[in-house]
Amino acid sequence: MGALLRASCVLLLCLLWFSSPAPSSALFGIPPHEQVARVARFVAHRCDWASMATISTHKPVVGQPFSNAFSVSDGPEGLSSGVPYMYLTRMEISVQDLKADPRASLSMSLAQTHYCRRQGFDPQSPLCAHIILSGAVVEINGTEADFAKKSLFSRHPEMIDWPVDHNWFFAKFNISQVWVLDYFGGVKTVSPDEYFQATPYRKH
Ligand SMILES: *[C@@H]1O[C@H](CO)[C@@H](O)[C@H](O)[C@H]1NC(C)=O
Ligand SMILES: *[C@@H]1O[C@H](CO)[C@@H](O)[C@H](O)[C@H]1NC(C)=O
Repeated sequence: MGALLRASCVLLLCLLWFSSPAPSSALFGIPPHEQVARVARFVAHRCDWASMATISTHKPVVGQPFSNAFSVSDGPEGLSSGVPYMYLTRMEISVQDLKADPRASLSMSLAQTHYCRRQGFDPQSPLCAHIILSGAVVEINGTEADFAKKSLFSRHPEMIDWPVDHNWFFAKFNISQVWVLDYFGGVKTVSPDEYFQATPYRKH
């Protein structure tokens, strides 16, 4: 009986151990900080939403930066393209800004995941990896829109039920420059070519 009880306790401890949050960055899968383009791709794939800054066309802040939250996806889970796709309607305030000037900035952070809190990294700390994408929002159609739909609807299932009369369309963020904060020493930049060539996940 004593042996059985001991065995049960050991089993319970094992279960608790394996169900506790992943303690290290290695388990989370974030690439090493010096592989900046890979970190950028990793953040872009892990985040389901982004803050998008447009140049406002609305009173009383015409011409001022205007930041707003948008659901994004660069691919179904585990199938990262690096391209943030969006599902937009022209009724939306920021999309109205984009009609006047499609240039925008997207910001995504691992503070949106459990990672930074578990590691004890403040969202403003560069250790809590975050990226800023500069570029423009471009409407898409055809096969790329099919991929955007798959990417977005798999990670944002309620989009399927969004009101049809809003005339939703698919768009992509056309990246012109990537800015990465993933370690001390200031912001690092990554060209679109470097970004798209990088693989977000560790090779096994
Ligand atoms: C796709 O969009 C482009 C502009 O982004 C447009 O020129 C083209 O006609 C569209 N094609 C279809 C099939 O709608
Ligand atoms: C996308 O961005 C690149 C680089 O800034 C630019 O050369 C290209 O014309 C853009 N494409 C579209 C469709 O806006």
